[in-house]
Amino acid sequence: MPTIQEHMYNSRIAGLGFYVPENVVTNDDLSKLMDTSDEWIQERTGIKERRHIIKGEETTSSMGVKAAKMAISNAGLTPDDIDFIVFATLSPDYYFPGPGVMVQRDLEMKTVGAVDIRNQCSGFVYGISLADQYIKTGMYENVLVIGSELHSTGLDMTTRGRDVSVIFGDGAGSVVLRREENLEKGILSSHLHSEGQHAEELSVIAPAMGTRWVTDILEANDPDDTSYFPYMNGKFVFKNAVVRFSEVIREGLEKNNLGVEDIDMLIPHQANLRIAQFIQKKFKLSDDQVYNNIMYYGNTTAASIPIALTEAWQKGKIKDGDLVILAAFGSGFTWGSVVIRW
Ligand code: ACO
Repeated sequence: MPTIQEHMYNSRIAGLGFYVPENVVTNDDLSKLMDTSDEWIQERTGIKERRHIIKGEETTSSMGVKAAKMAISNAGLTPDDIDFIVFATLSPDYYFPGPGVMVQRDLEMKTVGAVDIRNQCSGFVYGISLADQYIKTGMYENVLVIGSELHSTGLDMTTRGRDVSVIFGDGAGSVVLRREENLEKGILSSHLHSEGQHAEELSVIAPAMGTRWVTDILEANDPDDTSYFPYMNGKFVFKNAVVRFSEVIREGLEKNNLGVEDIDMLIPHQANLRIAQFIQKKFKLSDDQVYNNIMYYGNTTAASIPIALTEAWQKGKIKDGDLVILAAFGSGFTWGSVVIRW
């Protein structure tokens, strides 16, 4: 793989934005719907509350549009300046088309290309990597990358689904990547992986096309059919996540001849606070070197990294010249990292 020095251009994060619905759902609120408790949820996941849309008020694309607007204006640009849209989500408004085109429509943009990414929790990292390649080759100048998720309408909000439903929240985050000729700063490298052997360990099996037709699903549609809801082999996911997070962070550091001590800010995908804390301890990072906000938003999957990145940046925790690492692991399994000199 070429190193940054072999390119003419680099990509820098020129603007950031995020949107979360106003409606706060606490652990006690969930206890009224299912047999769970604030204590159980906080102890296992670190989550205190999450945001859920009011049904009908938002979609994945409408939240993505709000985050994108903020990122574009934060970059000092207008939608007309954007050359390409990358949209990562596991919860698209429609089975097809994907939500990328809705951003083009709703922001009244030129007929630029729009691509949808289906890499779940790693979707934003995959999206940044893709956008970065278009910029480094010189093809595009400004690329909009969005991660957005609407989980709340697709979760089993009964005791049957409690191990999954308490974890996820709704929201969106976005960045604008801009082409620059300063090779010292910007995205130094990205590292992507997959292991489809474990595809079913964290998945929604239905509704599905391909080899499963809607008629099959309708025939099988009975109250006990849980295949419409996310399934997660929690302990297995946890074990794999901590290993892959560590590997891919190290891979990013080694590629750039950097060490753990060089990390100024690690933004891990907000899967579970316990996973992030495990990584922090393993790498002996201080609280200032890792940013977590899963306590307030839950796991927002493809949106979690851009929401956390924007919030950390807004709070002044990321400064010019800092080494920032984004790292993700999720369904697929897929995982990846992005190394950024801010
Ligand atoms: N409230 C109360 N009790 C619950 C709940 C709940 N919400 N969910 C499960 N339980 C019960 C179980 O039924 C079980 O009861 P039992 O002992 O009587 O059988 C008990 O709590 C323990 O359940 P486990 O599933 O063994 O709990 P575990 O300690 O594994 O924690 C968890 C579950 C939090 C999901 C954990 O496995 C985990 O964090 N896994 C990592 C997965 C993750 O973070 N995924 C995020 C999404 S994927 C991603 O972003 C990478």
